[in-house]
Amino acid sequence: MKKLLTFFILALMVLGASSAFAGSEKVVIAHRGASGYLPEHTLEAKAAAYFMEPNYIEQDLVMTKDDKLVVLHDHYLDRITNVMEKFPKRFRMVDGSKRWFAIDFTLAEIKSLKVTEGFKIVDGKKVQGYSARFPMFTSSFEVPTFEEELQLIQGLNKSTGKNIGIYPEIKAPWFHRAEGKDISVAALKTLKKYGYTSKEDKVYVQCFDPIETKRISKELLPKLGMDVKVVQLIAETSWNETMVLKNGKFIPYNYDWMFEKDGMKKVAEYADGIGPWKPMLVKSESTSDNLIITDMVKDAHANGMEVHPYTFRLDNGRIPQYAASYEDMLDIFFYTVDVDGVFTDFPDRAVKFLRRAEAQRQGL
Ligand code: G3P
Ligand code: CA
Repeated sequence: MKKLLTFFILALMVLGASSAFAGSEKVVIAHRGASGYLPEHTLEAKAAAYFMEPNYIEQDLVMTKDDKLVVLHDHYLDRITNVMEKFPKRFRMVDGSKRWFAIDFTLAEIKSLKVTEGFKIVDGKKVQGYSARFPMFTSSFEVPTFEEELQLIQGLNKSTGKNIGIYPEIKAPWFHRAEGKDISVAALKTLKKYGYTSKEDKVYVQCFDPIETKRISKELLPKLGMDVKVVQLIAETSWNETMVLKNGKFIPYNYDWMFEKDGMKKVAEYADGIGPWKPMLVKSESTSDNLIITDMVKDAHANGMEVHPYTFRLDNGRIPQYAASYEDMLDIFFYTVDVDGVFTDFPDRAVKFLRRAEAQRQGL
């Protein structure tokens, strides 16, 4: 009888979990929306992601010339729009290459651009980054503002009765500061306006810049009467993701301290979680018979932090050699490495995997 009762309780938990995955401690974060299927960060990619029922949908934030927050991964526009054709002279030279920076354009100008699947220029031609994804420059997409996206997700939360969260990233605060803009204050004020103010709200604020993440946590959130969860993203120093001014020159921020023995203890002084790159948790030279797992998850958990690594993709060449498939890769990270969530371009597959795996683990 007791067994039968346990079965019904577990079954009810799983049925309850069918809406937005409630009941599971592990989470799926739709990385740039359902970006494996539609151009990243478009409202279409976010609406598609929403109906795949991840726990959170990600927004990368940058600022326009007229101080509006837009949802864009890069702080330049030339990888995913027709800005080069529309505004051929409005570039800056960066390391010998032309780059069209979002901060040099007004929102109205950015809204006039066509958004496409990402590409790079090879021998003067546009070559799609992920060739099997949505075809370049087809259909019609635009860059959304942060507010448009919040209205979309909150509107869907109302019309569906679900509660899918958001996961905004403050992009390159050091760059915005150098341009005279405080992107963190603008982003936090917008979150407050839309009711995301406490750790109970379904929001994580993420940032790669440790100086800024600390500032957000220790200075800005208390000042604004907010207390949302904060995630420290972790980069390799060599990526030049975060820069600091030294003697009037920008040099790369050195992330080495995060990989030292007390690194996670130090991060936990100001963050609720970490967002590491997958190879920081499972070394790339691992094989299926010999997974080389670092101490980062263990240390983060020991210091009370959640761990949400990036980015889980199933495109050609994106599954590490130690995993047999996308699902096998998820299995390794969720159940051997014990991460708490994953950023993925394919949220449908991750949600399906996790629902099945959690049900199996509960013996259903
Ligand atoms: O923010 C988590 C993940 O998105 C980090 O990588 O470069 O895609 O923003 P990126
Ligand atoms: Ca991001």
